[in-house]
Amino acid sequence: MLVLGIETSCDETAASVVKEKDEVLSNVVLSSINLHKEFGGVIPEIAHRFHSRFIDRVVEKALKQAKVDLKEIDLIAVTYGPGLMGALIVGVSFAKSLSFALKKPLIGINHLHAHLYSALMDKEIEFPFVGLVVSGGHTALVLAYDYDKYSLLGQTQDDAVGEAFDKVARILKLGYPGGPVIDKLTQGTKSRMVEFPRSYLAKDSLDFSFSGLKTAVFYYVKDNYSNKQIPDEDKVSIASGFQEAVVDVLVYKSLSACKQNNINRLVIGGGVSRNLRLRGRLIDEAAKEDIEVYFPKSNLCLDNAAMIAGLGTKLYRKGIKSDFYLTPDATLSV
Ligand code: KG4
Ligand code: ZN
Repeated sequence: MLVLGIETSCDETAASVVKEKDEVLSNVVLSSINLHKEFGGVIPEIAHRFHSRFIDRVVEKALKQAKVDLKEIDLIAVTYGPGLMGALIVGVSFAKSLSFALKKPLIGINHLHAHLYSALMDKEIEFPFVGLVVSGGHTALVLAYDYDKYSLLGQTQDDAVGEAFDKVARILKLGYPGGPVIDKLTQGTKSRMVEFPRSYLAKDSLDFSFSGLKTAVFYYVKDNYSNKQIPDEDKVSIASGFQEAVVDVLVYKSLSACKQNNINRLVIGGGVSRNLRLRGRLIDEAAKEDIEVYFPKSNLCLDNAAMIAGLGTKLYRKGIKSDFYLTPDATLSV
């Protein structure tokens, strides 16, 4: 079976062709990130226009790279939420039109489920497992019973973790998106780490809060540097102190979720799962508790359509598909 995946939930216009058993034949991602840089965050209208302009070319390129003709596609899988409404409309409408014209089945995919699936591409995992989604728009711990059955264990009460990385990078004038910059800047550093507060919320809570940490970084910079330039070395100390506070909480709560539910499989997905400090700490700490951790390959951490096509195949094989009433759902939950 050949599946065409389409993803337009945020600022990446993506298409991919995946063959049965998660063989990725192409994985094309065109990002509008440079157009959002000057604003320090994604501007929905710019993302929408970008998707409308490039979706056909991105799909064409994915087919060409896979050496597959449109007529050979057996299933079209598309992200229908959560995400930016204007952005989702482009992908869903395009997928529906293709499905109608080609008379091929259509399946709507939850972007959050797909982020977790990206860690499981071409792997078999036993259910249930605990999933941690860490991206620019989401921070959630879930219990996965099957590829389409999840229950929410906890989520952020304010900023998403990727958003906190982006905002802290902005405070430190490191550029956008902040996650990759902070990750790179802090790698292998022996600098002193500035100590920032960790927010664990109530005892045993699996919810998160990162806005207090971001505010603590803001006031630390304001109090210590006011209008002065922050020396590069101090930026590293602040960034690594912030990152450590984030990682401490993510690791602690992910392992708590496993222990509270008596599960020893942990799956991580979303843009922040690329973070090397998070990966290293999770691998070490999970090993001590006999918990297996699954991460996506580096090229599948950020938004992409291979995870959409891969999950689409799995769900279709279970008899799940969508009809022409499929509508984008910007606030779709896990
Ligand atoms: O999953 P994603 O591509 O989009 C959403 O669904 O939101 O995640 C993007 C987010 C951004 O906030 C970005 O700063 C963060 O993931 N990110 C990282 C890293 N790479 C991307 N955060 C920490 N470390 C990284 N290496
Ligand atoms: Zn995402």
